[in-house]
Amino acid sequence: MATRGVGLLTRLPLCAQRSRVLHPIHRLLTCPGTVATDVRREEQSFGSAETGSEDRTLKRFSEVQKERREQAQRTVLIHCPNKISEKKFLKYLSQHGPISNHFFYESIIDDQLNILLKEFQLTEENTRLRYLTCSLIEDVAAAYFPDCAVRPFGSSVNGFGKLGCDLDMFLDLDEIGKSDAHKTSGNFLMEFQVKNVASERIATQKILSVIGECLDHFGPGCVGVQKILNARCPLVRFSHQASGFQCDLTTNNRIALKSSELLYIYGAVDPRVRALVFTIRCWARAHSLTSSIPGAWITNFSLTMMVIFFLQRRSPPILPTLDYLKTLADAEDKCIIEGHNCTFICDLNRIKPSENAETLELLLKEFFEFFGNFSFNKNSINIRQGKEQNKPESSPLHIQNPFETSLNISKNVSQSQLQKFVDLARESAWILEQEDKDHPSSNQLWGLATLLLPSVAKSMSHTKKKKKPASERIKNLLESIRSSSTENSKNTVGKRTVSTQA
Ligand code: UTP
Ligand code: MG
Repeated sequence: MATRGVGLLTRLPLCAQRSRVLHPIHRLLTCPGTVATDVRREEQSFGSAETGSEDRTLKRFSEVQKERREQAQRTVLIHCPNKISEKKFLKYLSQHGPISNHFFYESIIDDQLNILLKEFQLTEENTRLRYLTCSLIEDVAAAYFPDCAVRPFGSSVNGFGKLGCDLDMFLDLDEIGKSDAHKTSGNFLMEFQVKNVASERIATQKILSVIGECLDHFGPGCVGVQKILNARCPLVRFSHQASGFQCDLTTNNRIALKSSELLYIYGAVDPRVRALVFTIRCWARAHSLTSSIPGAWITNFSLTMMVIFFLQRRSPPILPTLDYLKTLADAEDKCIIEGHNCTFICDLNRIKPSENAETLELLLKEFFEFFGNFSFNKNSINIRQGKEQNKPESSPLHIQNPFETSLNISKNVSQSQLQKFVDLARESAWILEQEDKDHPSSNQLWGLATLLLPSVAKSMSHTKKKKKPASERIKNLLESIRSSSTENSKNTVGKRTVSTQA
């Protein structure tokens, strides 16, 4: 295991020096695993070590020093598995004597993964802005389809969205006719008729074509409108200037909404899932395995499926299979869309938490090892059954769509992109392995930083090339994580614009 540090350093930067714990061994109570605890409760007010802020007596510097030292000598540093309750563990340890001051501490790499998540996940404001943007587009679409709904889906709502990610929205016409409100207007009955068209797909294309025109000519702040109607899933793409979001509008895409709900559930049932998915997404972006331009690359959606599958394969599993979630469903969860069974339990509280207590650090390393050695040529990834299946077709990477099971969500991925993924996964596993053995000198990057820097492959190949100064490399690292998020700054500007209008 890598060197561990006190949990108090919760804001430890990704590239900070590895700190050493120098407390006497008899006060370091340890047990494998980590504990996530809010140690801020342990913080004491400035200049008052024991008595708290209520005490108005001003102490001499030397008194504070003495008190602090004594307090430190009576304090223990505790390391315990994250599945064991802090309270119970303390009670158990108290058998050996009363414990009044303590710190829980956790893996620094675990800290780094959680920091990455906190820094880049969608903020409350950004999420609200996404719903507001959908609501503004809904107003435009309502000119043609009163009572329609425009709903966000994908990473904007599934818990895996990174600041700057696109806004996937879906024009829901199914609500039309369901609400009673629109049916009566005075004494009159209002009814919509859709003219006969050859297929559902043509109807979708016509609807999107007309909405696309409308957005292009009259949509406030909608620029760069492109109608991509021949795609497997027809869409209208545009930039919403006021919010700064790149938007993809689809219709007749209820299954995607359901898969967003499924991912939301997986992200919510165990706190490690989102941290691991974020890290893998950032790692893939930093190494250009993913791109904002469509092409032969792996998508974030595919990476998320890979992490879920990997977590289903742990022993004991960290995540349940989709088939199991289906067995937990009751009558109101039943959902069939276009003949596809999309039923699973919607009440998260009825899903039993996993018994598995593995650390994020271990899971990250194991993820790279698992996929660095996966038989992609033979096997398909399948979160419905949570085990490898024989590949039904010859695409280099096969990840079964969880609901439209005959579809491969990574059909676009080329052999060379898959190979690049495998090579980087192996190298990253190796780097994390070295982390355990080496104790880098003060100016070396370590932990997650070594994995995220685009230059990692070169720096690890022991070439004589002169390294850039650490400060520049740290800047590069953050740049690489934020690479696709020039929109972020636009979002901030946009937020003001929109809220002024609202
Ligand atoms: P995106 O490709 O936009 O992925 O597809 P994403 O999850 O939002 O991730 P980023 O942040 O934009 O990269 C949007 C949603 O469409 C559905 C999934 O629900 C996905 O989250 N989808 C996508 C499918 O059902 N099948 C696919 O092959 C692709
Ligand atoms: Mg998206």
